Amino acid sequence: MTILLFGAEGQLGRELAVSLAALGPVTALCRSHVDLRTPLAAAAVIRSSRPQFVVNAAGYTNVDAAESEPELAQRINGDAVGEIAEACSSCGSHLLHFSTDYVFAGTGTAPHREEDPVGPLNAYGRSKLEGERQAMNAGCQLTILRTSWLHAPRGKNFIRTVLALAQTRHEISVVSDQFGAPTSARWLADIASHIARRSLAGDRPTPRVLHATSRGSASWHEVAQTALAIAVEAGMPSLIAKHSITPITSSQLRSPAVRPLNSRLSIETLESTLGFECQAWIDGVRETAYAIARESLS
Ligand SMILES: NC(=O)c1ccc[n+]([C@@H]2O[C@H](COP(=O)([O-])OP(=O)(O)OC[C@H]3O[C@@H](n4cnc5c(N)ncnc54)[C@H](OP(=O)(O)O)[C@@H]3O)[C@@H](O)[C@H]2O)c1
Repeated sequence: MTILLFGAEGQLGRELAVSLAALGPVTALCRSHVDLRTPLAAAAVIRSSRPQFVVNAAGYTNVDAAESEPELAQRINGDAVGEIAEACSSCGSHLLHFSTDYVFAGTGTAPHREEDPVGPLNAYGRSKLEGERQAMNAGCQLTILRTSWLHAPRGKNFIRTVLALAQTRHEISVVSDQFGAPTSARWLADIASHIARRSLAGDRPTPRVLHATSRGSASWHEVAQTALAIAVEAGMPSLIAKHSITPITSSQLRSPAVRPLNSRLSIETLESTLGFECQAWIDGVRETAYAIARESLS
């Protein structure tokens, strides 16, 4: 199998480059190879290399900054995805793309199912939804994995931020009224590779939109407390005691972008399609927090 990967230097892209390599040669591209701001740049690469599988892990991911530059977010998360999907359609390539819990408004407390009505609350969510729509309209073989709250030992993510703050601050405040499933980028990369392998083997096609997160849910506050406790147990020094993480509400935080309070995604379809249980969120957080703690000691 020939695989083309966009976004190879992002936190998910780096894990995908490793997982996908087990399936065949991976051409791993980052922004310096293909800039998605340039119309049709990614499409030209697909048309010239005609890969069997295209994985798009590139994206405009700064949720707050998207409020002040929504056109750029739409270009990268919307129009560029449409161009990639059109090129996949004309080359017969299967496209695997990543979307987000932020396509939902996040009302209620039940996990959102794939077919539930969307209603993004912020510019980032609207741009990701536009990418979904353009990809679906292109008519290529398509898998969109909607995920949430990604974390990894490298890259920019909440767990790394909390553990870094624990080196310099005695007290931090963390939102306690947003609930979701922290999801390991490494685990998600393995799921994506599994889907790619199934597609190439000609197995029953996976649904075009699938929710792919860890099992269970927690608030950001609970995730912060859990990650810190694990890192401290692994030997990482911390100025913050566990009880010094202060719970606050989203309205107290006053971030530029409004975020959904309920980011839970139903993983029933993923589990029944793949025939195994998703990772528990605490297991993924344990791996990431432990890896960060050990690295901080080396
Ligand atoms: N992080 C989350 O919690 C989360 C949750 C739900 C869904 N997702 C989705 O999952 C996917 C991967 O997210 P991630 O956490 O791995 O994000 P990330 O670490 O920010 O990686 C995104 C990658 O996209 C690249 N990129 C940005 N603008 C580009 C451009 N103009 N041209 C080419 N490449 C560009 C970035 O390159 P540079 O490094 O050069 O900027 C970066 O390598 C995205 O589609 C995201 O929307 C993420």
